[in-house]
Amino acid sequence: MCGIVGYIGEQEAYPILIKGLHRLEYRGYDSAGVSMINAKGDLNVYKATGKVKALEDKCANEDVTGSIGIAHTRWATHGEPNTVNAHPHLSQSKNLSLVHNGIIENYKTLRVMLEKEGYTFCSDTDTEVLVQLIEYTQKKGRCDLFTAVQRALKNVIGAYAIAILQKDHPDQLVCARKGSPLVIGVGTDARGQKEFYLGSDATPIVEYTKQVVYLKDEEIAYMDRTGKLDIVNLQKVHQTPEMHTLSLSLDELEKGGFPHFMLKEIWEQPNALRTCIKGRLHSKSHDIILSGITDHKEKFINARRIIICACGTSWHSALIGKYFIEEVAQIPVEVEYASEFRYRNPVIYPDDVVIAVSQSGETADTLAAIQLAEQKGAFLYGICNVIGSSIARATNSGTYLHVGPEIGVASTKAFTGQVITLCLLGLAIAKEKHTLSDDMFHMLVDELYQIPDKIQWTLENNKNIDQFAQMFTYCRNFIFLGRGYNYPVALEGALKLKEISYIHAEGYPAAEMKHGPIALIDSEMPVFVIATRDRLYEKVISNIQEVRARGGRVTALVTEGDTQIQKFADHIITLPDTMECFQPLIASIPLQLLAYHIAVCKGKDVDRPRNLAKSVTVE
Ligand code: F6R
Repeated sequence: MCGIVGYIGEQEAYPILIKGLHRLEYRGYDSAGVSMINAKGDLNVYKATGKVKALEDKCANEDVTGSIGIAHTRWATHGEPNTVNAHPHLSQSKNLSLVHNGIIENYKTLRVMLEKEGYTFCSDTDTEVLVQLIEYTQKKGRCDLFTAVQRALKNVIGAYAIAILQKDHPDQLVCARKGSPLVIGVGTDARGQKEFYLGSDATPIVEYTKQVVYLKDEEIAYMDRTGKLDIVNLQKVHQTPEMHTLSLSLDELEKGGFPHFMLKEIWEQPNALRTCIKGRLHSKSHDIILSGITDHKEKFINARRIIICACGTSWHSALIGKYFIEEVAQIPVEVEYASEFRYRNPVIYPDDVVIAVSQSGETADTLAAIQLAEQKGAFLYGICNVIGSSIARATNSGTYLHVGPEIGVASTKAFTGQVITLCLLGLAIAKEKHTLSDDMFHMLVDELYQIPDKIQWTLENNKNIDQFAQMFTYCRNFIFLGRGYNYPVALEGALKLKEISYIHAEGYPAAEMKHGPIALIDSEMPVFVIATRDRLYEKVISNIQEVRARGGRVTALVTEGDTQIQKFADHIITLPDTMECFQPLIASIPLQLLAYHIAVCKGKDVDRPRNLAKSVTVE
């Protein structure tokens, strides 16, 4: 969703801002804007709807000079995506320019109050209310911008990450956050002087510096050209900036020869998962070391229940995690849509462990769900990919995926990263609770260790999926079926297809077909069935026959060496053998490739599908 970039230093700001906006494009947006103060002291603002490229075209003949600036990509919430509603927004006197991510919940009340004070508004946004409020506070209190922001934000309810320029003070940049992420990069310019970068995440910053400060909730930061960085919280208490060194590399943000980030990320999975298990899964000693669990083992040993809150693809991985944790650690696990959970009055016991699974670590619903669980006294555990993200910070303990940045909107390597992390977590709890025999524990550890190689095999042996996908390009509906551990894979296969190719697809537990959806089957309906050799193999064969008997076109995902299913299926996709509980890690790979290639055949914008955002920071 919306993205913020900022810069103050000795360099020209515009190229840094535009490059930063391009880096944040993956988050999803529908308009963009930029604002700089030039050497004469003019504060210029340029905005465009559509892509960042449209903004660049607009700026081509404009004055985009200046060594201080802010920029924004907007994903419309209040007001349609047009240039009036795009950020930056100017204050009434045009002295302040502001960009904002998040939602100001009490903006209507604030707007009425400001209108009474003579302020007029040109946009429909909550953001314009914020910039006017800061100007009003500054004028009324005759104070500097830093103070005005601290005072104004005390009256604001909602979530925000903001960055502000002041025309008559081109030597300072002020920013603040609550609920929406903001990272400050601290670099050194050619003269050895400190310069500052801002980003909604580290991607616009890493090119210039690896030293970053993750602004915390309710913190306001002041940066200036003398290299001063001052941070206070809303209670006006000064905070010492905590410097972190980014491990992110620039290569991870490039396509590296692949036509799309999504394809790159699909192929990255073997290595990404090796990194994920590194130092945690020890094949020689048959051991699991997950510090997030070891440090709080009593919580897990005594847990009455585990509740996993997540959204979308992360919810699917949570479902696989539930099956696995219940099986190996013998703890009841409930999986909840965070968006539903947060608005119920769920029963949560103090001896519950609530796990948030989120790639971005910023999903508003998931964050709200764990905040609710915290109020009810549960122990919170986070499984996130983005280091320093809000969910990672809001939880008592957790595990990072370490699969590298995921830029494609459709989640692939983060999904398998989440599944493998949940498997590690299940095994780590099983170890503490002694719920598995040594033999079984060793067998699971050994097999999990093999998974990245088996994914590599799957990728190498399914290279022809691109040609296969062409057959399905014009189908209007799809059904994906699976049972047991493969049921969430069916859900995920359907989600991947619909989000990037815009084809309607349903994922179903195979045995549920006869309770309704079988009515949809005819010769036009492609049905993908995950039919690997496991406990439910024979039953899935019966389900395939039911589909075939109604004229459905079946593609079966089968275990290498299978000879039975060929008799019943139109097409076969072969997978390496593994234990049933790890099958989702393998079976999801061809479905990712299928969705990708169908979307490419249809000419869709695979990495940035319409209406979707990578980081869903609004509810
Ligand atoms: C689909 C996808 C989304 C996300 C969902 C939750 O490919 O990526 O369904 O899984 O928006 O996002 P995170 O995991 O960041 O909480």
